[in-house]
Amino acid sequence: MTEKTPKLRDALSGIPTYKPGRPAAAEGGRVAYKLSSNENPYPPLPGVMESALAAAAHFNRYPDMACTGLMAELSERFGVPLGHLATGTGSVGIAQQLVQSTAGPGDEVMFAWRSFEAYPIITRVSGATPVQVPLTPGDVHDLDAMADAITERTRLIFVCNPNNPTGTAVRRAELERFLDRVPGDVLVVLDEAYKEFIRDPEVPDGLAIYRSRPNVCVLRTFSKAYGLAGLRVGFAVAHEPVADALRKTAVPFGVSQLAQDAAVASLRCEDELLGRVGSLVCERKRVAEGLAKQGWTVPESQANFVWLRLGERTVDFAAACERAGVVVRPFPGEGVRATIGEAEANDVLLRVAEDFRVGL
Ligand SMILES: Cc1ncc(COP(=O)(O)O)c(C=O)c1O
Repeated sequence: MTEKTPKLRDALSGIPTYKPGRPAAAEGGRVAYKLSSNENPYPPLPGVMESALAAAAHFNRYPDMACTGLMAELSERFGVPLGHLATGTGSVGIAQQLVQSTAGPGDEVMFAWRSFEAYPIITRVSGATPVQVPLTPGDVHDLDAMADAITERTRLIFVCNPNNPTGTAVRRAELERFLDRVPGDVLVVLDEAYKEFIRDPEVPDGLAIYRSRPNVCVLRTFSKAYGLAGLRVGFAVAHEPVADALRKTAVPFGVSQLAQDAAVASLRCEDELLGRVGSLVCERKRVAEGLAKQGWTVPESQANFVWLRLGERTVDFAAACERAGVVVRPFPGEGVRATIGEAEANDVLLRVAEDFRVGL
């Protein structure tokens, strides 16, 4: 036995591990709701479930590594060439591949802050330096400040639209103006994990933007609107050099056949799934209006969650939610992100928020 331990890369020291939203723990027979991970509260549609179960009968075999069926379906559905598509283990897996493909030690990866908490982690795992540009006081991307922060070393910029955890979205004109300022050799990743929840017509569809801009890549996922979070499948749309790099950096056989077949089935019953998204958007409106009526200032959300900037009261609020049976996502010292869930769960959130307001 040796006293030595394996040498790990210095870049890993100090990187926090990704913190998932806490599960809901039911107490004393009370129903508990999980509003901490921006999941879709609806169970799988029967047709989607059937496809996944049929695929499960063959899980002694490796999946189709090229995701042939899913790629064909995506190409047709979104009108993009096959060579511009890449699939991955959730959009976070693809985001990690994009960083790996563009940035290493000495390079910079830029994103707004606060934003999706995986960005700093995957940046540092690659050995690159995160450059975090504060959101505006209204909790929106400060695209002018981001453009000003570009240096010779910038390799990739994430624009999370709408932004997790604030729900705010950047609009077409400001995004185009920003993209005009980004050098062509810097990759801009439009992370559109919550695209289907957008109702503001001024918020652009990243796919319309990528077509004329070779340095833009769009990230989408089946985890949120399509309700396949547990199956881990997302995709990127990008011009060839970037899409090719994604194929090189992919973990072989990363997307299971269950995930592939369920994703194809989801695209085929998209009307029904997007109907559910419509109901969640109605709930978002109800929750946002309810909170506003109680006196809260809530940034306009284009996603399936709302953001309460509670500062020092964040942890207390999250604890009050938990006592009432809903688990939300606290970012201590900053605020709470609450996913829009079942109507009953949203009611509990509103009740807690009202009581908390009275106590402020
Ligand atoms: C902005 C954003 N991007 C990407 C993801 C990753 O989603 P998935 O890996 O499930 O596709 C999330 C998940 O919360 C997210 O909020």
